[in-house]
Parts: sequence; structure tokens; C-alpha cells
Amino acid sequence: MKNLAILASGSGSNSEKIMEYFQHSKKAQIALVASNKADAFVLERARKFKVPSFTFTRKELDAGLLLQKLQEEKIDWVILAGFLLKIPEDLIRAFPDRMVNIHPALLPKYGGKGMYGSLVHKAVKSSGDTETGITIHMVNEQYDEGKIIFQAAATVTESDTPETIAEKVHALEHRYFAEVIDSLILE
Ligand code: GAR
Repeated sequence: MKNLAILASGSGSNSEKIMEYFQHSKKAQIALVASNKADAFVLERARKFKVPSFTFTRKELDAGLLLQKLQEEKIDWVILAGFLLKIPEDLIRAFPDRMVNIHPALLPKYGGKGMYGSLVHKAVKSSGDTETGITIHMVNEQYDEGKIIFQAAATVTESDTPETIAEKVHALEHRYFAEVIDSLILE
């Protein structure tokens, strides 16, 4: 059984889908939900699935507290599902090819520092692009530049708003993220 930890900063709708998907898996379990926000709704969702949670400050993250916790809990894979802080390099190095992120656009477009959540969808809308989508990728030391594992696209029409683009992107994320994680994990 592999132990997965989810790192999330916000609502956690992706985290919920992942916890749902793996709750009866014989291959992997969600052993921890960790957040830098003590009031993030993702923590509520973790309680619902009886998954232990852990919160930390940015300072504690940089001081290695999360890495220590992940090691204590014998975590094999780290899943970033809407985690908005920069991951310290020693944490990335501790999970080589075992740290996965989801980005709400078709990387390399709309990636990089400061591009997250609704800011990405606003940028897509104002660009006039006719498609957007999701990218699931490995995390390395360069922001949003790790090896791409999976992408799926959605059409953007003139009548779309950043909000409707977000809905389309979330639908793709909820449809694919857990399955892609499952396909990466070896028994
Ligand atoms: C997701 O759309 C995810 O792709 C995005 O945050 C959202 C979290 O939603 N991540 C990033 O923008 C990372 N750069 P959720 O809390 O409902 O799962």
C-alpha cells in the first residue's frame, strides 16, 4: 500500500475527488491532507473522509516541518491540488518523480509564478484563446516546468467568462486527476 499526501490551500474540490477515488483502493491511500491555511475548506473535506490533516505556516514550511511530517508518516507520493506556496527545494528533492501538480491551463501557456486559479482563467479570457485545459505534471525546481504527464483541453467560446472557463477546467480536473495519479503509482 502506497501512502499519498495531498497539499492544498483552498476549497479542495480536487482533493475530495482524490479521497473519494482512493477510499477503497488496495494500491494507495490518502494518508495525509496538509494545508498552509488553517481555515481552508479542504480540511473539512479531509474530516469527512477521516483522513488526518496537518497545517503549517509558510515559515514552518521553509524550516522543513512539512518534510519532517511527510517522512514521519512514510509518505511515498505528494499530490499538489491547488497548493499555492512555493515548495522548498529540499522537499522537492525528497520526492524525485513522486511529486505531482495539477495546473488549470495547457502548460507551457499561462504557467509560472503568480499564475493560479482565477488569475489563469482571466488571462485565458483576455487573450482570446479558443481553448484551455488542464496539465498534470511532475514537480521540479522550476515553477510549472516539470515533465508533463497528461493534458486535456476544453473549448473557450466568445460567451465564456472567467467563471465559466473555471467550471469547464474544474470538470476536466475532477474527471481525470485521480485516474492519472492511479496510473503513475506502481504497486
Ligand atoms: C485547481 O483548479 C488547480 O488546478 C489550481 O487551483 C485549483 C484548486 O481547486 N491550481 C493552481 O492554480 C496551481 N498553480 P480546488 O481547491 O477546488 O481543488
